[in-house]
Amino acid sequence: MNDYLENPLIIIIFGITGDLSQRKLLPALYHLTKRHELPEHTKIVGVSRHKIPVSEVYAKLQERIHGSDFDKAVAEELHDMTEMVQMDLDAPDDYRKLKERLSEVSDQLGPGVSRIYYLSIPAQAFVSVVHQLGEAGHHEPFGLDGERPRLLVEKPFGYDTASAKTLVQAADEHFGEQQTFRIDHYLAKETAQNILTFRFQNPLFQTIWNKKHIASIHVVAYETIGIENRATFYEQTGALRDFLQSHLIQLLALVTMEKPEQLESDAIHAEKLRLLDSIKTIMPNEVHTLATRGQYDTYREEVHNEKSAVETFARLQLTIDNDQWREVPMVVESGKALHEKCSRISVTFRSNPDAKAENVLDFRIQPREGITLSLQAKRPGLDMETETVQMEFDYARSYGQTADAYERVIIDAVRGDQSLFSSAAEVLSSWRIVENVLQQWSHSDDNLAIYPVGSHANNI
Ligand code: BG6
Repeated sequence: MNDYLENPLIIIIFGITGDLSQRKLLPALYHLTKRHELPEHTKIVGVSRHKIPVSEVYAKLQERIHGSDFDKAVAEELHDMTEMVQMDLDAPDDYRKLKERLSEVSDQLGPGVSRIYYLSIPAQAFVSVVHQLGEAGHHEPFGLDGERPRLLVEKPFGYDTASAKTLVQAADEHFGEQQTFRIDHYLAKETAQNILTFRFQNPLFQTIWNKKHIASIHVVAYETIGIENRATFYEQTGALRDFLQSHLIQLLALVTMEKPEQLESDAIHAEKLRLLDSIKTIMPNEVHTLATRGQYDTYREEVHNEKSAVETFARLQLTIDNDQWREVPMVVESGKALHEKCSRISVTFRSNPDAKAENVLDFRIQPREGITLSLQAKRPGLDMETETVQMEFDYARSYGQTADAYERVIIDAVRGDQSLFSSAAEVLSSWRIVENVLQQWSHSDDNLAIYPVGSHANNI
């Protein structure tokens, strides 16, 4: 399990100064360093277009770490592990120079080096960067490398089906599917990982997990933050691409897929794909009834585009066209600048005429990770009054603090375990589901609801 700690590691980060890297990746590397969960000989090579000192890369690290968790010595260690390389991403020569530098670093670190290229760059730049890496031979082992390097890619993987296919081809041509790790950090959140165990190791739920007993499934992810400093990224992305096509459709698949032959990577991916392929494509004439979009009221000002039709809230009603789920409403929805930060999957069971309320099983992805089942109980006292109570499993209470999803993602990529990453086929299937919605929404702002910051999702 911890064999990976033996081999030296080089993580090459494209887009190290970008928002995602600053918000998620670098804090995760900090925590892993603090807990000694990275190989002792680890080197981080940050790539950026401009000359940037390492100190600037980590300037905001402290803000991202919870108060008492911050340890200056660990931050310094991270700083010392890092070097920056300035590159013009369009210049083939710069990829050769990078390779020379990495070979030197590799030689200094000793035999058996693993190399990971982490690409947190706009989808439009991806194909060219991967080709250039390939042309310069970065995809092959060199020097004292122990294995073929891996490509770690941030979502959204592509912009639509056509662009995603081009990205898949580019990664395939040079690195190959086995070496390509497409991050969906929602899959690495503790509750998301627990979905399959919960479903398949508890016979009680296994027998009632179908349309006969389940009335609807809602997968939601609400954020209170707006787009922060990501105007350019968000103007090209929107909530449908940023959240629904990736995180939420993946979660829906986990909660509705059939039992894989084994709970291991290939079998899970095969069943997940089968489920994704059975989600109906939203057809052009269904977009106005099955898809809802909104934009928070200060968005246009933030992005300096008074005509922007980019959605910061999106909701889709989906149909899984198989015997287990046909006719059960499946809803996925996500938005920014809403009244609460909360991601969960709510499974509502069918009611009967005597019941006062429905039973709902909530997988709480965040905050307060856990699982809650709402039940009816008699209120203490002489009267026969019932009320809804919660039966609850809470991670923090049972296990203490759990590792952050990004930390898990990095370690899995280092260990070469693809279970928590999206396969190329899964990504393409998800684009297919939303393709017509993307098309229509890009053509006009019809039915774009403008909502006040802090709104309740039910009001959109
Ligand atoms: C990212 C999205 O994938 O997830 C961001 O690009 C979003 O827009 C982030 O803010 C949310 O992640 P988490 O783990 O804080 O829910």
